[in-house]
Amino acid sequence: MKWISTSEGAIAGTAAGRAARRQVDPGAGIGHHRAHHCRRIFGAKTLSRPPISRRPPADKPKPAPEPPRLARPRGLLPDLGRIRSTWPVILSTPGWEDFALIDMGEGEKLERYGEMTIVRPEPQALGSRRLPPAQWAKADAAFTGDVEEEGPGRWRFERPLPESWQMRLGNVRFACRFTSFRHVGIFPEQVTHWTHMQERIRAARRPVKVLNLFGYTGIASLLAAEAGAQVTHVDASKKAIAWARENQALSRLDDKPIRWICEDAMKFVAREARRGSRYDIILVDPPKYGRGPNGEVWDIFRDLPEMLTLCRDLLSDEPLDLILTVYAMRASFVAFQELAREILAPRGGQLQSGELVLTEAGGDRALSTSLFCRWQPDGGKP
Ligand SMILES: C[S@@+](CC[C@H](N)C(=O)[O-])C[C@H]1O[C@@H](n2cnc3c(N)ncnc32)[C@H](O)[C@@H]1O
Repeated sequence: MKWISTSEGAIAGTAAGRAARRQVDPGAGIGHHRAHHCRRIFGAKTLSRPPISRRPPADKPKPAPEPPRLARPRGLLPDLGRIRSTWPVILSTPGWEDFALIDMGEGEKLERYGEMTIVRPEPQALGSRRLPPAQWAKADAAFTGDVEEEGPGRWRFERPLPESWQMRLGNVRFACRFTSFRHVGIFPEQVTHWTHMQERIRAARRPVKVLNLFGYTGIASLLAAEAGAQVTHVDASKKAIAWARENQALSRLDDKPIRWICEDAMKFVAREARRGSRYDIILVDPPKYGRGPNGEVWDIFRDLPEMLTLCRDLLSDEPLDLILTVYAMRASFVAFQELAREILAPRGGQLQSGELVLTEAGGDRALSTSLFCRWQPDGGKP
């Protein structure tokens, strides 16, 4: 077993189980497919969406917009004096045995996921490439298409590849697939959050309840369970839940207390708040746009204030963390920080905000991937 460092800690990595795959699985885009579909339907407008709307049939007009939800912060700004903010914070993930950012430049990135090397569009890779073209040409697969995150495109394969392959992160094993929206089942830059979360769970030395919202393929949920937490994992996509359960079986963590819930995240947190449920750690990793199982529309710019407010109210009396990760790169982390500061101010504590970056293997450049805010109560590790 080898210990690899993130900017904040260490996570156990071991050799990967390895295989590979050939073609696009049109259903495997999961949230990203939904997200894109949703964006096409609704364009870039901010909608006032009913709390629990049904997807309108294609041949019927859209229902009239309903007023925004009540949990959205209203009234005057609270006293922000109780919360301390640290920003900008850059949390970097240098990679581990099964993942490397090999090179980047000219609007693309070359990465290794397990034994599979892939090329994908990367609008933030503005500079030159470190490696010669022959090295890039050896990649197993390349995604060509829209440079926009979640934009349409297709995979090109250099040779026949298996349907899925495996990767490992610490004691968690998971399946990777070429999804139709360019992702393969893990967002490696989030390892820095997951390592931190595992440390917090282990250090608590008490039962810890974790809520993982928009949980996708369940890697964070499995790492939390492996560290000893009781986990509630929520995702709108049946395919994502099935993939997460597959990862649970691959990780041999079937006996761990994980509730897999296929539901609209907003609907779930609203109900949990009404019931008085509480969690010690809440992970919120929403897409920009998404759909609940019954067609409920998620729009980050409209719905995040309400979501964070409900999450704040779901925090236990001895909370450990609330971690928000956002891939809406056209927004600044400052926007999310100021929202989180306002919503969490009544609880005091400390807030870190900034960006998650990947650092390249064999070089020292950083690639920005997403924005984050991380809240902890006073007395927590900053
Ligand atoms: C960006 S991914 C999450 C990444 C994941 N947490 C990780 O770290 O690998 C977005 C996920 O949100 C889900 N999703 C989209 N809209 C949703 C909604 N309204 N309610 C719940 N989940 C939703 C998608 O199915 C998808 O799995």
